[in-house]
Amino acid sequence: MKPSKSTFPLNAWYAAAYDVEVGRSLMARTLCKQKLVLFRKLDGSVAALEDACWHRLMPLSLGHLQGDEVTCGYHGLVYNAQGRCTHMPSQDTLNPSACVRSFPVLEKHRFVWVWPGDPAKADPALVPDMHWNDDAAWAGDGKMIRVKCDYRLVVDNLMDLTHETFVHGSSIGQQAVAEAPFVATHGERTATVTRWMENIDAPPFWAGQIEHSLGYKGKVDRWQIIKFEAPCTVNIDVGVAEPGTGAIPPGGNQGDSRLSQRGRGVNGYVLNTISPETDNTCLYFWAFARNYCLSEQRLTHQLREGVANIFREDEHVLEAQQKAMEDHPDHTFYNLNIDAGSMWARRLIDGLVAKEARPSVIPIQAAA
Ligand code: FES
Ligand SMILES: [Fe+2]
Repeated sequence: MKPSKSTFPLNAWYAAAYDVEVGRSLMARTLCKQKLVLFRKLDGSVAALEDACWHRLMPLSLGHLQGDEVTCGYHGLVYNAQGRCTHMPSQDTLNPSACVRSFPVLEKHRFVWVWPGDPAKADPALVPDMHWNDDAAWAGDGKMIRVKCDYRLVVDNLMDLTHETFVHGSSIGQQAVAEAPFVATHGERTATVTRWMENIDAPPFWAGQIEHSLGYKGKVDRWQIIKFEAPCTVNIDVGVAEPGTGAIPPGGNQGDSRLSQRGRGVNGYVLNTISPETDNTCLYFWAFARNYCLSEQRLTHQLREGVANIFREDEHVLEAQQKAMEDHPDHTFYNLNIDAGSMWARRLIDGLVAKEARPSVIPIQAAA
């Protein structure tokens, strides 16, 4: 049987957990088809080991954490945080091969990131920028949901926000999103979709936010700048402002968002990073950060729960889509104009996967 092509690169940082999820106990997670056990060490840093004992493959997550060492819950082999076996009951000498794989791990922007590929390539500079999640100029919070779909379907969903009109009509959706022109651009690891909507009625969610923050009611200029960073992070700059106050830069769609003035508006970042668990399940980490009413903890709570409800609508769509794809394995997708952003994202993902599939040393053919 032909091995199926991987849908994700291994040489990348993937969010494995929110920082608050990992404590002084053993937590099982699956990332890129690799079963892991995560725990927080006594110094506060996180360790990630393969979740299978060297002896008889018992999941280590079912064992015990003592100090910085994990004891297997079957026959008591003990492993340190680097995955090396440090104790074997009933014998004085340790088998030198007794170890489990340990994975590069670091914490940044409130997420625990794990590198499932070649440890020598695990460059901390490659962690995607999600600084809005722990920046004092922004307030917010988020959640993780396990979605029963290929992680790339979540990326597709975020790269094309016209679906808001049809999936999220009671909150952020409106006809203008489906109708406004947009521009899709791309770089070596990024793809960006920019959409400006001038002088429109604010959808219910944003009407509530600008009124709460600035006491303003009425038409707005609205923006959505969706930025994908390969392989699986999508940060979306969103918001509304009083019309004509400079939130939409001169030149509209051709303009540069850095030139815009947003003082008479409210700005949020929808932060998303989606880690493949298997080919058809993923861990979807998201947060909503805002730059207004920073000290209002109640608003943080309400926004997190509100966005969670919105994303539940996506979850239903995505799981139904995954199921339909499995029912129609030979169906080819048709691409519309609205799919420009997701097509670039997919191309960048495919490029990373292809790079890993290529042997780094090309074998020299022996002369006949
Ligand atoms: S399976 Fe872990 S000690 Fe035997
Ligand atoms: Fe959505």
